Amino acid sequence: MGDVPERISLREVGPRDGLQNEEPVPTDDKVALVDRLSTTGVGRIEAVSFVSPKAIPQMADADDVWRRVHKAAGVRYSALVPNLRGARRALEAGFTELEVVVSASGTHNRKNVNRSTEESLDDIAVIIDTAHAAGATCQVIVSTAWGCPFEGDVPPERTVTVAGRAVADGADSVSFGDTTGMATPSRVRRLIGEFRSRHPDMPLNLHFHNTRGTGLANVLTALELGVDDFDASVGGLGGCPYAPGATGNIATEELVHMVADMGVATGVDLDAMIEAAAEAERIVGRTLPSQVLRAGPRTRTIPA
Ligand code: COA
Ligand code: ZN
Repeated sequence: MGDVPERISLREVGPRDGLQNEEPVPTDDKVALVDRLSTTGVGRIEAVSFVSPKAIPQMADADDVWRRVHKAAGVRYSALVPNLRGARRALEAGFTELEVVVSASGTHNRKNVNRSTEESLDDIAVIIDTAHAAGATCQVIVSTAWGCPFEGDVPPERTVTVAGRAVADGADSVSFGDTTGMATPSRVRRLIGEFRSRHPDMPLNLHFHNTRGTGLANVLTALELGVDDFDASVGGLGGCPYAPGATGNIATEELVHMVADMGVATGVDLDAMIEAAAEAERIVGRTLPSQVLRAGPRTRTIPA
């Protein structure tokens, strides 16, 4: 195994990426989930998104959720936005870290935010300036970074070009989102290599979905390339009830479980994250895909 970072930063995205893809849950439960996650030691939580309630009814109560969340010292909270209107709402609500999303593939961007990728990039330049003027940071998430459910494979050059525009416009960091789990270790290696060769100093986050079972393999590959910032969702929350086979992000407790045994620090208390996953399962009322939630830590023993 090559050198891997001693410490990585995890952003828990279950309350946003996970819950947006589940049957709507009550505001109380959303607040309870964020509060629970805030006690696990995870350093960052993407708490809500400020999107059109017609597009994503699950996030219609974002303002309420955020108002009621107990903001824990030592946790950085962020919000995802799709447009300038969302950015303004997030800043007004008091967020100081925004994520704005654009898809590398034109078809997915059109379906997701009703713009061409180039139109979104123009909007994003304004959003970045607006965030900075308010003293906030803005990460640009490039979705469908490895592939698109409508167009198939997305060439790495395309993803790097879209990210490059965000970098040129002043993004504080970039995230590559594997929206429908099309990345594999070899493709991770190639995209990271191309991005790093052009933007060696740009902070990079990776966001994998485990749709085809390669999520943790992709993380391992990225760790060996020195990537030290990952998204994950508690319990592996997410997926679309109307799209058979769709799944959520890699499960936070599975990621923590794997890297802890490699000597990579995350700050997360594994037992607390497993308890949070059990809570997430109760909230959404279905069995979540996390295997570490089922089996427990590898050191769990049963009476002989
Ligand atoms: N928050 C709340 N409402 C918003 C909004 C925001 N950020 N942006 C737009 N709206 C409202 C408008 O006020 C308008 O409302 P009205 O019909 O009552 O007048 C309506 O939504 C449509 O606005 P418009 O600017 O024409 O947007 P659109 O219909 O082209 O949709 C998005 C574009 C971006 C607003 C919408 O596609 C969206 O919210 N997408 C989010 C997708 C997402 O979150 N995907 C998962 C994460 S990657
Ligand atoms: Zn996602």
